[in-house]
Amino acid sequence: MFGDRRTILITAGPTREAIDPVRYITNRSSGKMGYALASEAAKLGYHVILISGPTLLDIPDSVDFIPVETALEMYDAVNHHIGKADIAIFAAAVADYRPAVIPEHKIKKSAERLTIEFIRNPDILGSARKTFGFMGVLVGFAAETEHLEDNAHHKLTSKGCDFVVANDVSRKDIGFDTHKNEVILVFPETTKFPPMDSKYELALVILEHAVKLASVRNTN
Ligand code: C5P
Repeated sequence: MFGDRRTILITAGPTREAIDPVRYITNRSSGKMGYALASEAAKLGYHVILISGPTLLDIPDSVDFIPVETALEMYDAVNHHIGKADIAIFAAAVADYRPAVIPEHKIKKSAERLTIEFIRNPDILGSARKTFGFMGVLVGFAAETEHLEDNAHHKLTSKGCDFVVANDVSRKDIGFDTHKNEVILVFPETTKFPPMDSKYELALVILEHAVKLASVRNTN
C-alpha cells in the first residue's frame, strides 16, 4: 500500500544481455502491453511501480519508473520493490539466458565460427512466491506458439500465479509490436476469452480481474 492507495508493480519490455561492450542480445518485445497496464492503472488512481527494460515508449504519467537493462537488474529491482505491492503483473519478456562471460573488450572478427556460451537467468516471476515471499495477487504472461491454454496452465501452477495472460505469438496480426492483442486469461478453475482489442482495453480487463481478486483477498 502507498498511503491508502493500492500499489501495483508491473514489469515490462525486453531485457538486454551484453555479449561484449558494444553488442547485446535481446528479443522482440516492444513493451506496449506492460506500458498500457501501467498507464491505465495510474489513470485509475493506483500507485504504479513500472520496472522496465529498454523500450522506445514514453514513460506513462504518474508512475514510479525504474529503468533496468539486464534480467539480473530486473530481478534485483523486483526483489527490492515487490514488498510494497498488493498486485504484481509480470509482462516483461525476460531473456532466459545471458552470455556466461562478458569480455572486457570488443570481440574481434577472426575465426569463421564464433561460439558463445549462455547461462540461465533467474526466473523473476517464479521467484515471486518462493524467494521474495510475495503474498499479493500475482499475474504472469505467457507468449506461446502452440498449446496456448495447456502451457499457460502449467505456468499458472508452477509459478504460483493467480492467473496467466496468454497469447499466441505465432500470429502476425497480434502480439509483438502491434497495438492490438488477443489473449486468454487462464485461472485455476476457468479460462476467459475476451475479444481481440487494443492493448489499452485489454489492460483494463486484466486490471479489473486483478483488483477484484485483491479485494476478495483483503476481506478474507
Ligand atoms: O516461462 P516464461 O518465460 O514463458 O514465462 C513468462 C512469464 O514469466 C512472464 O510473465 C514473464 O514476465 C515472466 N518471466 C520472468 N523472469 C524470467 C522469465 C519469465 O519474470 N526469467
